[in-house]
Order: sequence, then C-alpha cells, then structure tokens
Amino acid sequence: MDERLPPAVSADLTTGALLEYWRARVTQHLSDSYAGLKLSKFPEDLRVYEHLLWLQAPDTVIEIGTQFGASALWFRDRLRTLQAYGRIERDPLVVSVDVDQSAARAGLREADPRYEEQIVLVEGDVLSPDTAAAVGERVAGRERRFVIEDSAHVYATTRAALDAFAALVPVGGFMVVEDGCVDVEELRISEDWPRGVLPALDDWLASAPGHDFQVRRDLELYGVSCHPRGFLQRVAA
Ligand SMILES: C[S@@+](CC[C@H](N)C(=O)[O-])C[C@H]1O[C@@H](n2cnc3c(N)ncnc32)[C@H](O)[C@@H]1O
Repeated sequence: MDERLPPAVSADLTTGALLEYWRARVTQHLSDSYAGLKLSKFPEDLRVYEHLLWLQAPDTVIEIGTQFGASALWFRDRLRTLQAYGRIERDPLVVSVDVDQSAARAGLREADPRYEEQIVLVEGDVLSPDTAAAVGERVAGRERRFVIEDSAHVYATTRAALDAFAALVPVGGFMVVEDGCVDVEELRISEDWPRGVLPALDDWLASAPGHDFQVRRDLELYGVSCHPRGFLQRVAA
C-alpha cells in the first residue's frame, strides 16, 4: 500500500441496496460532462486517475477511445496542473485514438479553440497496426507515458490495445483498461452491453508481455469503479 494514497474501502455492489445504487450511478454517468462535453466516467475513477497521474507524473497520455473528446481534454488539463506544480517539465501531450474523430473535433473546438496545441486526435482503428504506428510517431522521444484503453470493450479491441500500447508504458507507469464491469454478470445493466474486456485482459496477462504488469486492485480506492482489475502497473522491463 502506498502511503501517499488513502486506505481503500471496498463495497459489494452485486446485491441489495448497493446494486440499486450501482445501477443509478451507471445511468447517471451516461449524462455527466466535463467542460460542456459529455464525459462518461465515475468521479471515483477520475479521482483514482488524479492520484495515478500525480504518482507517475507522466507528460504524455495515450488514450484509445476519444468519443466526444471530454476525457482527452480532462487528461490534458490534469497534465497542465502537473506542469503548473512542477511535477513535469515538458509540455503536456495527449494523443487520443478513435475510428471517427468528427464529434471530438467539433466538441473540442468549441470547448477550447486551441486544443490542437496539446491534444492530437488520431483517426484509426485500434485493430490496425497502422494506428499504433501513427501513435508511436506522435509520442517518439517522450518516455513518461500513461495509457488508457476505453474503446469498444470487446475482446478483440481490448486485446489489440494491450498488445499494441502496453509496451509504451515505462517501468513504474500505469495502463488502465476501462469498463471491465461489462464482464461482471451482476453489474451489467443492459443486454446491449458488450463483453470481453476481462477475458482479453486475463489472456494478455498470461502472455509474456503481461508478466511485466501487476493488476493493482488496491487502486480501486473508493469501492465504486467501472474498472475492476483494470488498473495495471508496469513492474518490470
Ligand atoms: C466509451 S467511448 C470513449 C469515451 C471517452 N474516452 C470518454 O471517457 O469520454 C468509446 C469510443 O471508442 C471508439 N471505438 C470503438 N471501436 C474502436 C476501434 N476499433 N478503434 C478505435 N476506436 C474505437 C468509439 O468510436 C467510441 O467513440
């Protein structure tokens, strides 16, 4: 346990009143926003991100799954805060990938007309090696990278993101695989939800590159999280 973090609390969300609470929170988070753009993340998960960003002090965030651009903007703003406090020296950079960047371009232009100075939108499919190559070019020479997988939440995309992007995480750094909740039967609130995040994660962890990472369940600090088993730390080169 890291003494710089608050002690974790746990909660069984899968039954009774807490399950009802979970369902209400999932519904609520689909209507949440940041800087006027829709942002579907739990405040508890955003708070964990703040802790991890402070601890790792990355200057580069790579995100798979941009959607409306709200999370890219949120990460850019957190990196700016790290810079303001002297935790990082380089100018922040967020590189965010999506198959369709039209909504993000429009939203980000409205929220911050100068967003392109520090946010690069890569249009591409995480399943394609070209996408990883395009991201690799953008982050070349930048070592302090933090990676988030938040795309389709099915087996193929989760595995592809881990295969292509975990290698960019430095030792001690973090990769977050979002929304493993889709594979916890009791936590599914709709038949339409995808499946496959946790099976892909387990298979990847069993592969050679996965051996360099540790699943940090202790970082599910607040008992409520969309990302069970999703906070990964690189512990070996
Ligand atoms: C859950 S949303 C991302 C939400 C965003 N990160 C946020 O927190 O506001 C998922 C996004 O992944 C994108 N996506 C789905 N499949 C993809 C793929 N194969 N490659 C890249 N992006 C994909 C979708 O277009 C969608 O915009």
